[in-house]
Amino acid sequence: MVRTPQRPGLGRMLTASLLLTSSPLAAAYNLDPNSTESVTTIAKQMADDMLSFYHGDQPGGTPGLLPNPYYWWEAGAMMGSLVDYWYYTKDDSYNDLTTQGLLYQVGDTNDYMPRNQTLTEGNDDQGFWALAVMSAAENKFPDPPASKPQWLALAQAVFNTQAARWDTEHCGGGLRWQIFKWNNGFDYKNSISQGCFFALGARLALYTGNNSYADWAEKTWDWMVSVDFIDKYWRVLDGAHIGPNCTDITPYQFTYNAGTFILGAAAMYNHTEDQKWKDRLDNLLNATKVFFTGPDKNIMTEVACEPVDRCNLDQQSFKAYLSRWFAATTKWAPHTYNYVMPYLQASAVAAAKQCVGGKNGRMCGLKWNQDNYDNSTGVGQQMAAMEVTLSCIIKDRAAPVTHNTGGTSKGSPGSGGDDIGRDQPKGPSYKAITAGDKAGAAILTALVICSMIAGIVWIFIDETSDKTPMQQFRGFHSSATASIAAFAVGGGAAAVLHRNKGSREFNEKTGAAVASVSEQSSHSSTDNKRAIEEAPVTIGHVRNQSEGNHQRRLSNMPLGWPHNRTLRGSTVIEPGQGQAPSTRDLDGARQSDNEARHSSASVSSESIPERRERAE
Ligand SMILES: *[C@@H]1O[C@H](CO)[C@@H](O)[C@H](O)[C@H]1NC(C)=O
Ligand SMILES: *[C@@H]1O[C@H](CO)[C@@H](O)[C@H](O)[C@H]1NC(C)=O
Ligand SMILES: *[C@@H]1O[C@H](CO)[C@@H](O)[C@H](O)[C@H]1NC(C)=O
Ligand SMILES: *[C@@H]1O[C@H](CO)[C@@H](O)[C@H](O)[C@H]1NC(C)=O
Ligand SMILES: *[C@@H]1O[C@H](CO)[C@@H](O)[C@H](O)[C@H]1NC(C)=O
Ligand SMILES: *[C@@H]1O[C@H](CO)[C@@H](O)[C@H](O)[C@H]1NC(C)=O
Ligand SMILES: *[C@@H]1O[C@H](CO)[C@@H](O)[C@H](O)[C@H]1NC(C)=O
Ligand SMILES: *[C@@H]1O[C@H](CO)[C@@H](O)[C@H](O)[C@H]1NC(C)=O
Ligand SMILES: *[C@@H]1O[C@H](CO)[C@@H](O)[C@H](O)[C@H]1NC(C)=O
Repeated sequence: MVRTPQRPGLGRMLTASLLLTSSPLAAAYNLDPNSTESVTTIAKQMADDMLSFYHGDQPGGTPGLLPNPYYWWEAGAMMGSLVDYWYYTKDDSYNDLTTQGLLYQVGDTNDYMPRNQTLTEGNDDQGFWALAVMSAAENKFPDPPASKPQWLALAQAVFNTQAARWDTEHCGGGLRWQIFKWNNGFDYKNSISQGCFFALGARLALYTGNNSYADWAEKTWDWMVSVDFIDKYWRVLDGAHIGPNCTDITPYQFTYNAGTFILGAAAMYNHTEDQKWKDRLDNLLNATKVFFTGPDKNIMTEVACEPVDRCNLDQQSFKAYLSRWFAATTKWAPHTYNYVMPYLQASAVAAAKQCVGGKNGRMCGLKWNQDNYDNSTGVGQQMAAMEVTLSCIIKDRAAPVTHNTGGTSKGSPGSGGDDIGRDQPKGPSYKAITAGDKAGAAILTALVICSMIAGIVWIFIDETSDKTPMQQFRGFHSSATASIAAFAVGGGAAAVLHRNKGSREFNEKTGAAVASVSEQSSHSSTDNKRAIEEAPVTIGHVRNQSEGNHQRRLSNMPLGWPHNRTLRGSTVIEPGQGQAPSTRDLDGARQSDNEARHSSASVSSESIPERRERAE
């Protein structure tokens, strides 16, 4: 807890000493969402506590990185939350830290593709950093020195690299999740990658007035609807694989997927003033009711994982983004204010109330819809509580600017450099090899490859499995390809970590039992039951914080979701067997064919872990 910041703001030092002295029995925050003072005072403490997890500004720390097991994208999301913090409070204590982090991670060609992230970077990861700098441009966060990349140009560079990745070969369009072709997840197209690109395009159109960006946003929306990732009930589902032409939809609803399309639709509505976009926005907003639980059904909840205590580290932060984007939506589409504000205010009061954890007695937990603290802490919990608190005072904040209304951030429409169109990482192993090097290297390479394959076979063989080693090896060939690429790019240690022999144990133990969703919900509260029924939600294997320490997941999709065949094993329910989760559409009508397909897809493609015992 003792911190020695490089450039300690007075506030941060004071808070640090308060942290050491404050009593563990500190009273819960009693937020008055209508009071600017109450909001800013509480948000300040939440921000400080969020930054207690960050050491990137300290000697030996890497700016813009959170410690393991947090992924790179979440640090970008956190920088975005600090841009917001300044926008709402005008407290600049964290501005230097924020600018430093945002600029340190830009990579060789100023487009948020730093070499260190090569093995795991998804379009969504890159997108979260882009949305952070886009907010910096729109909210007039102080511009970097002229010698450094500028906020708008960074956002444009990300946009340009992503537009070049639009893939019409599979599923008729869309971005793949992963950027580089050897990475796991390159065969998955997920809503959050499209959502970040969509919202970025819409906001760039609004900021610059350049309609090319809006055309891309339009195209992204149309594609999302064409593949049913946004379905006829306006639910934003998680994604699907290119193998079955994006028909194996993963039917989870997460707050951030909905949030990013709401944000983009609001920006498109403001840009075009077209009724079509207003209708889309209103319908998407209407479909977010599923995320609000509690006695008055107004407390934000990550319904896919919270009710069963299965939110992984990434998911613990998602409510931060729905809060952030709900608030931003009220600026570009002021007619939404009266709809979203009661949700935000009620959620903020509830979120603040449960922040009584940790040594300082004020750390926030994950669950806002219960009166007690859930014993969890983390960057995501702090960020979500802070963002929802700040959102309460959106009305009095300035509207985002554009080039024509006071924006000062300098753009660079062609930015992105040689990352545009690149699908293989830069790295030593990709250097051109001269003829002279070749002969000597060939023998060595052959030796290395042989020992690598031997090592990989060993790593992959699971002696507890019924299958023969050869059967197992066939099943693992795609992971092996990724591991070989990992060896080539990142060295042996990374590849071994990539397939950690011990790591299956956890999943097999906790994932052995299969429970239908209705079984799970019968033990939950009525709200949770409602939430689960309305969302065709099934719960996959997701790691908790302590497990995360030894498993680096590849991006911000939960570990073990349908793309991870190694997790399926004997716990898979084949279609037709077992009980499909019961789902209901928003009107409470019977399942449509569409939904039946979604729910059976979810059951057949993964196991549902044992319900965790609750203290009765
Ligand atoms: C905040 O103000 C709004 C509008 O005046 C009011 O409806 C709401 O009840 C107030 N909330 C609280 C918690 O006082
Ligand atoms: C990449 O990793 C190296 C080694 O850990 C570190 O020194 C460097 O600061 C990192 N760069 C970025 C942009 O994170
Ligand atoms: C794949 O999906 C896209 C988008 O839904 C569709 O346009 C295309 O016809 C499909 N291709 C095949 C071979 O089914
Ligand atoms: C508009 O944006 C497109 C897409 O990035 C770019 O190619 C074009 O140069 C931009 N036009 C202007 C006038 O900036
Ligand atoms: C929102 O959904 C309800 C049903 O849940 C429906 O009655 C209402 O018309 C919808 N509103 C909009 C704006 O679509
Ligand atoms: C567009 O956004 C501006 C700035 O917030 C706002 O004043 C204006 O009313 C919005 N336009 C529409 C059509 O909602
Ligand atoms: C939190 O931890 C305390 C003490 O270990 C325990 O009594 C309580 O039941 C836990 N609460 C929850 C919600 O897990
Ligand atoms: C997290 O995982 C570890 C290791 O599997 C386990 O001991 C611990 O009880 C888990 N904690 C929670 C909150 O699920
Ligand atoms: C798949 O599951 C295995 C076993 O838990 C894990 O080691 C691996 O990282 C997972 N892969 C992905 C892509 O999540």
